[in-house]
Amino acid sequence: MKVTVVGTGYVGLVSGACLAEVGNDVLCLDVDPAKIRILKEGGIPIFEPGLLEMVRRNVAAGRLRFTTDVAESVAHGTIQFIAVGTPPDEDGSADLQYVTAAARAIGRHMDEYKVIVDKSTVPVGTADKVRAAVVDELAKRGLRGDFSVVSNPEFLKEGAAVDDFMRPDRIVVGADEARAIELMRALYAPFQRNHERLIIMDVRSAELTKYAANAMLATRISFMNELANLAEKLGADIEMVRQGIGSDPRIGYHFLYPGCGYGGSCFPKDVQALQRTARLDAGIELKVLNAVEEANDEQKRVLTRKVKARFGDDLSGRRFAIWGLAFKPNTDDMREAPSRQLIADLFAAGAVVSAYDPVAMHEAQRIFAGETRLNFTESPLDALDGADALIIVTEWKEFRSPDFAVVKERLKQALIFDGRNLYEPKLPRSFGIEYHAIGRL
Ligand SMILES: NC(=O)c1ccc[n+]([C@@H]2O[C@H](COP(=O)([O-])OP(=O)(O)OC[C@H]3O[C@@H](n4cnc5c(N)ncnc54)[C@H](O)[C@@H]3O)[C@@H](O)[C@H]2O)c1
Repeated sequence: MKVTVVGTGYVGLVSGACLAEVGNDVLCLDVDPAKIRILKEGGIPIFEPGLLEMVRRNVAAGRLRFTTDVAESVAHGTIQFIAVGTPPDEDGSADLQYVTAAARAIGRHMDEYKVIVDKSTVPVGTADKVRAAVVDELAKRGLRGDFSVVSNPEFLKEGAAVDDFMRPDRIVVGADEARAIELMRALYAPFQRNHERLIIMDVRSAELTKYAANAMLATRISFMNELANLAEKLGADIEMVRQGIGSDPRIGYHFLYPGCGYGGSCFPKDVQALQRTARLDAGIELKVLNAVEEANDEQKRVLTRKVKARFGDDLSGRRFAIWGLAFKPNTDDMREAPSRQLIADLFAAGAVVSAYDPVAMHEAQRIFAGETRLNFTESPLDALDGADALIIVTEWKEFRSPDFAVVKERLKQALIFDGRNLYEPKLPRSFGIEYHAIGRL
């Protein structure tokens, strides 16, 4: 099938590469010429495991191409995926300007039947707006046009995105027209050979499903973070509690890990956008989600609170080693990452920071450009030299089993604040390291 993907970010590029992998003829469009240049030169603009190889393989096979030419991209695909960003605007609502611009561009150029697929995370009612934008552009050309608008939210996880797309738990398709449903069914057939994963529903339910999923996951995290803080005060161990409740199949083990707050490009903005949709479009206050967000904002400061409880509010003259900058492992994405809040708080209290992350340091360099209080090191151990403590912010695999004797030796003070509960507390303590985790004894 001929497929166009509009937007070559984390979602668009992965979707385009995976759709090409199963044999489709895919053209990816982006308005950012720098991204398209990198892709045309054989690189990829983001870090995502397995993606570079897949992109190269499909480019070489002639199934995957990149362009900045809108007319070419609209002419190419019968199916036009919109996978552009939907960042929060000033009041937290999803900013739909990129989605609308992509829809208008399709309306400006299309001259045969198209299925326009909203893959970006968009509020309920966006498909209607996309339809109106396309109709408007067609009308300017004196045309009525023939097209369908489908909602197909994406559930991939950064860091495991290729695998998630190739082996999805479910594929949600919100569509009203049989013709569009048949095309989507055919497109996704190669991804569900084992059993049916396609859930067909009405457009609005599909749009809400994506927000409901992220809101539920964020709720589990904030719930566990609050319980971890409580466990700490009560002298209980949240890890034992996690195992105790996770064993109940109604609860399950997934997504019950306490830490230093959720970040990333999805949970914070999607929780906010759902709250705004409820408030502004339905006159309903989502009280649970308000608390989820408030608890997370506080949790992003939990490591600062622990550091200050140990060293006092004035941290001038102190250096801290940070392991992990990305909002989670296996990605270079630092959008809303807890590390950003922590670093800002440490700076504000007068401290300096040595940081290490396996892939996100170039992104951190961009974010903290010109910042002299932050330096980056070539290895995790190098970050420890002269530091008053090690603070762990991202649970990269390579941090899971350090040589604690060397860690102790290289730190100025043998002290670890672990925002991800990576170690059994007894272990670092057996090396004489003072160890503070989240909700653990
Ligand atoms: N990142 C994730 O893990 C994830 C997972 C599921 C869903 N989503 C959703 O998918 C959407 C995209 O997220 P992302 O992380 O891939 O965003 P991103 O910021 O990485 O990429 C968006 C891309 O769209 C391009 N773009 C913007 N306007 C355009 C236009 N008119 N024409 C062509 N290209 C245009 C940008 O230049 C950018 O490259 C968002 O709605 C997000 O909420 C993201």
